[in-house]
Amino acid sequence: MAYTIAVLGGDGIGPEVTAEAVKALSAVKPTLQFSDALVGGAAYDETGNPLPDDTLALCKKSDAIIFGAVGGPRYDHIQPPSLRPETGALLRLRQELNLFANVRPAITWKPLLHASPLKGDRGRVDLVVVRELTGGIYFGKPSERRDNGTTAVDTCIYSKAEIERIAKVALKVARTRKHEIVSVDKANVLETSRLWRETIDEIAAANQDVKFSHLLIDNCAMQLVRDPAQFDVILTENMFGDILSDEASMITGSLGLLPSASLGGDSDEPEFGLYEPVHGSAPDIAGQGRANPIAAILSAAMLLRYSLKDDKAAERIELAVEHVLEAGLRTADIFEKNSKLVTTKELGDAVAFKLMSP
Ligand code: IPM
Ligand code: MG
Repeated sequence: MAYTIAVLGGDGIGPEVTAEAVKALSAVKPTLQFSDALVGGAAYDETGNPLPDDTLALCKKSDAIIFGAVGGPRYDHIQPPSLRPETGALLRLRQELNLFANVRPAITWKPLLHASPLKGDRGRVDLVVVRELTGGIYFGKPSERRDNGTTAVDTCIYSKAEIERIAKVALKVARTRKHEIVSVDKANVLETSRLWRETIDEIAAANQDVKFSHLLIDNCAMQLVRDPAQFDVILTENMFGDILSDEASMITGSLGLLPSASLGGDSDEPEFGLYEPVHGSAPDIAGQGRANPIAAILSAAMLLRYSLKDDKAAERIELAVEHVLEAGLRTADIFEKNSKLVTTKELGDAVAFKLMSP
C-alpha cells in the first residue's frame, strides 16, 4: 500500500530537520509518497493564515504528518494572538485533527551519557511522557482570556472522558514496558487535578496488571532531576506534560534528540498521528546547518511504529542513529573533544547511508 505523508517543515530550523527525517523515511520505505505544505509563520507570510485550508485538507487526507517547528520572534506580536503560529497552526492542528495523545520518549543514548547535565550514571534515563494534548488550560474558553486589559483569565477544563482516553493510551505504552505508570497532577490545589486523580484511581482498579502511583507536579519535577531512573511512564495533563517533557529531554543531553508523536484522529485507540521534534524553531541557528536532525529523524521512526505499524523499520532508523553517534558524528549542540563536527545534512546523510547499506 502506498502511504502518503504530509510534510510541514514550518519555520526556523523546521524545514532543515524535516528534510533529514524524510530522507531517512525514504531510505527505509522507498514507496512512501510525500507532499509538502505551508505552516506557521512561513504560511502566515504567504497567505495571512498560519494554517491555510489546503494544508489542513492535505493533513486530513494523509496517513501521517511530519512536522518541523513553528514560530519565532518575528511572529510574537501578531494580532489577534489566535493567528500566532503556535496557536493558529500547531494548537489548531492538534484540535482539528483530535491529536489528544502526546507520546514523548526520553532516552539517554550510551555514546552521549556524558552530555547529560546530571553526573555519571544519574543521567541514564529511559522513560516516556504521555501528555494529554487537546484539553486543559491550553484550550480554555477564548472569551475568558482577557477583559479590560489589566486582568487575564485562562480556564482549565477537563472531562472524565478526556482523562480516561489518555489514561488508556498510557496503559498501552506501559504494557510494552515495565507496567508502571506515575500519574502527575496538582490535586492539592486544582479541582481538575482531583477529577484527574479520581479517574486514574478507577482506571487503576480496573487494570491491575499495571502499577499506578500519583505524584504532585512540583514533586515530580524535583524527582526527575534527583533520580530520573525511577520513572518509566509518566502520565499527565497538557501543561504539566509540556514542562516535564522539556525537563526530561534535557536530562538526555540535548533538546535536539527528543522525538514525539501526537496521536488521535477518529479513534480512541489512535493510529493517525503528527510526528515532530520536541524542540522548537530555534531561529537563532536557522539556515546555518547547525541544527541537530536526530529528534526529527527519531520522530520519523515513531511514525513508522505508530501510524504505519512497522516496528522493524522504526528500529532500523533507531539503530542507524545509534550507529552514527557511536561513529562519533556530532552536530554543534552535542559536540565534544575528539568527535567529528558535522552539519545537519551531513548527519542526515550518514543515517540514510547506514540505512541503505546492506
Ligand atoms: C510543545 C511546544 C508547544 C506546546 C508550543 C509551541 C505551543 O512547547 O509541543 O511542547 O506548548 O505544546
Ligand atoms: Mg513544549
